[in-house]
Formats: sequence, structure tokens, C-alpha cells
Amino acid sequence: MIQEIRAEELDCERFIAEQVREIRGAVGEGTAINALSGGVDSSTVTLLGHRALGRKLRTVFIQNGLMRQGEAERVSSLFRSLGVAVEVVDARDEFFTALAGISDPEQKREAITQTFYKKVFGRIVRESGARHLLQGTILTDVDETVAGIKRQHNVFAQLGIDPQAAFGYSILEPLLRLRKDGVRKLGRALGLPEELFARIPFPGPALAARVIGEATRERVETVRQATAVVEELLAGIPAFQYLAILHEDRVTGMRAGRRQFGQQVEVRCWDSVDARQASPTRLPFELLERIAAAILERVPGVVSVTYNIATKPPSTIEAV
Ligand code: XMP
Repeated sequence: MIQEIRAEELDCERFIAEQVREIRGAVGEGTAINALSGGVDSSTVTLLGHRALGRKLRTVFIQNGLMRQGEAERVSSLFRSLGVAVEVVDARDEFFTALAGISDPEQKREAITQTFYKKVFGRIVRESGARHLLQGTILTDVDETVAGIKRQHNVFAQLGIDPQAAFGYSILEPLLRLRKDGVRKLGRALGLPEELFARIPFPGPALAARVIGEATRERVETVRQATAVVEELLAGIPAFQYLAILHEDRVTGMRAGRRQFGQQVEVRCWDSVDARQASPTRLPFELLERIAAAILERVPGVVSVTYNIATKPPSTIEAV
């Protein structure tokens, strides 16, 4: 049983001092490595790790081909401005090879997990000689995985998986006792810029969680472009999260007077406090029309745009 530290009782300075001591103790004279995705959890753990280890921590951004537009450049330049060097590793081929032919949601997650931890990260860790991986797992990841709701890609020990045996390195998880609000508070105390917290949540399996059916390069590109439109047009609205999903079914449409058996994009926008329950945001119809028009104009092959009006549960925020 992991003992939770609630955000309101979190004493950041004390917590940072304790974790810095623990991380230094665990890593000793060795080196550690961590993967930064640009989300709040991995960003916070990156700064915490650098506070503890300085140059003994190597931070990599794994370009898996499933991230949002311009993400690698955005994240690495933001961290450069905070004094943290980020190495971008191009692993797109490996991820798309692993995802080829897979439509089942859990198999997709598993393919991403295995490719990330075993293949790509395993190789980087082996080459670097680091024996420790620093990771931003939080308590909610563990809860949801153990409850069998959704297998979060970063949970191992609680499922009885020994990372040392499975992947060849040990995993340090300094945020394990916190939930999102606690991590945000800690990230601020460590000096993460406000723009990082202002961003809406983004899932671990990235855009593969928003492609129903096979996540090919082309289909991920379609959802990436639709996501860019949705994020652009909904920026600043007080919703919990908004996203685009690519459906597997095709529908008949028409373009330039010709029939086109095209793709369907679903837009979702959620009101929620903690993602455990959520309801669709009552967006003005004119705004929905603008989103639809922009997607139809800017995303090739799409002939249908819908807006989700179901609640979570029974729906979930992501589609996969
Ligand atoms: P769901 O789709 O489970 O998402 O309602 C809840 C919140 O968690 C975010 N998130 C993930 N969702 N797999 C997921 O399905 C992941 O690995 C993951 N990581 C984060 C999701 O975006 C939503 O905010």
C-alpha cells in the first residue's frame, strides 16, 4: 500500500530535500537516465532529478512519431532555457513497426510499452551505462492499473513485474505518493514555467490513444493535424481536456463534385475535475461549426466531423 501525500499537506521544500537525498543515495557514483515527454509528471521528475544529480542524469526525449505537432522542438527548447540539455532520439521506425497490424487497444498499449521500455529505452540505457531510470509515475497511474481500468504504460512493480529482470535496469519513482495536484505544486516549487501547467493533459500512449484501429504513420498524421486544429481553436477555454479522435469506419462524402469514401474525426471536449468522471462541455454551436470547417479544410481525407456528447463513465476521455 502506497501512502498518499495530499497536495494540501505537501511541504515542497521538505519533499524535495528528501527525494534529492533518496535519489542520490540510490544512484551513488553511477548515472541515471530519464525520458522527458513534456507532460507535467515527466517534466517535474526531470527537474527533481537534475536537482539531485546534475550532469549525472541524462534526459532524453523519445521521438516515437506519436506526439503532437512540433513537440520535440518545443520541449527541448523549453528545457534548454531551464538549463537542462535534452537529447532527442528518433525512434519512429521502431514504434510504427511495433504497431503495425494491431487494432486491439490493450495490444496497442502493450506494443508501445514494450517498444519504449525494452527496445528503445533498453538500448539507450545499455549504451549509456546508466543503471537507474527515473520515472514520473504517480499514484493515480497505479490505482487505475491495479483496478484494471486501464493499463498505464509506466506501472510495473505494482503488477508484480520486476523491471530489473524484465528490462535490465531499476526504476526510481519519486512522485509515486502524489496525485496530479501535488505534482503541479511540486513542479512550480522546482521552477517549471506556468505555460507547462496551463497545458491540457495528454496520454502516455500519445496519439495512438486517439486512433481507433491500426495506428499507422498516415493515420497518426491525420489525427495529429486534427488535434492541432482542435487545440488551436479551443485554446484558452475553461475545459478540462479537448482532443480529436480518428474513427476506423469510413463514410461516403463528396469533394469537388466527386464521391469520396473518406475518414471521420470525432471531437471531444470534457468538463472534469480529476478525469475520473467527465461530461461534455457545452460548446457554442458556432464554435463547433468553426472547428468542423477547419478540420474539413486542413486535414486531408476527412469528410465527417462529429462532437461527442456522452459522459464518462461509461465513456472514457481518450478513445483507446
Ligand atoms: P481516460 O481515457 O482513462 O483518461 O478517461 C483519463 C485521463 O488520463 C490521461 N492519460 C491517459 N489515458 N492512457 C490513457 O488512456 C494513458 O496512458 C494515459 N496517460 C494519461 C487522459 O488523457 C485523461 O486525461
